[in-house]
Amino acid sequence: MLLRIVGRCSSRWTTALCLLALVLAGCGSEQYPQTTLLPRGDFAKIADDLLDTTVRWALLVFVLVEGVLLYAIFRFRGRPGDPEPHQTHGNTTVEIIWTVVPALILAAIAVPTVRAIFQTNAVPGKEALTIEVVGHQWWWEFRYPEYNLTTANEMHVPMGRMVSLRMGSNDVIHSFWVPQFAAKRDVFANRETRMWFTAQVEGDYPGQCAEFCGIQHGRMAHRIKAQKPEEFQAWVAHMQTLGAKPAATAAAPAGNAKYTEGEKLFTAKGCIACHSMVAVNSPKGMVGPNLANVGARSYLAAGTLKNTDENLARWIRDPQGIKKGVLMPNLGVTEAEAQALVAYLRRK
Ligand code: CUA
Repeated sequence: MLLRIVGRCSSRWTTALCLLALVLAGCGSEQYPQTTLLPRGDFAKIADDLLDTTVRWALLVFVLVEGVLLYAIFRFRGRPGDPEPHQTHGNTTVEIIWTVVPALILAAIAVPTVRAIFQTNAVPGKEALTIEVVGHQWWWEFRYPEYNLTTANEMHVPMGRMVSLRMGSNDVIHSFWVPQFAAKRDVFANRETRMWFTAQVEGDYPGQCAEFCGIQHGRMAHRIKAQKPEEFQAWVAHMQTLGAKPAATAAAPAGNAKYTEGEKLFTAKGCIACHSMVAVNSPKGMVGPNLANVGARSYLAAGTLKNTDENLARWIRDPQGIKKGVLMPNLGVTEAEAQALVAYLRRK
């Protein structure tokens, strides 16, 4: 596609311009949502505004300096037969100007920078929604102390309410990165780091671990689901009901046979040792992600697979083949057993 577009451009200049247009088209496009150039929250907006300010000053300096340089090159260029030019040694006025002007420009950048540093490091008040973020090799645990809820890899937040993140790690250093809402912050074992943001635009936003943390660092993604406050409350209410057995449905009239089979296998195969199926009062320090609402998530295995029945069964049967090195072992689950576990996990 790229080559075809470039191929249409005839001269070298138009090729260069076409390439530049393509590169610029990539900046901030909705097609590349993992970008810091499309802020969707106040924290990210502060950083983006600061970037804009700095780039504007840099552009002004570039145009002025290059303009003066080009003017000097053409206006004062040497011609054949010119005499030796007049030699100048020092010019106090010019030296004062080129010292004071850059100092003023740096001050104009420093003031908003320092302000942004203080703003983004402020500690949120009590009205903020606290979410505890725990990095694990290679997934994210999210705990909501206010609602006593735990989930994994997909963080639901209400729009318009500040979210206060209290972050740590269960093992090595990770970095929690929410490009469109906030920034990157490293997370450590035995040390708390903090970040905050307020989601201002509804949507489903990707993020990922931004600190190399082992072989599957690249598959340690997460999502932020920014919802209308009433939808967020509905999610909370739904999460609080998870744990109770679903009623028999029309799809499974025979008393949810597959579901019951899956429930037994969840214990028999040892899944229960690492995963909780209840979101409320989930114990801290579980080895694997909380699976209470796994059926409703967009992705499996921290952004590795789209969440479909087929992929979930594949994942249960061969986690090591899909995400080598992951803590979940291959348990020798048959296809029929995997189907039953899928029915249980997805609450069918
Ligand atoms: Cu966790 Cu990279």
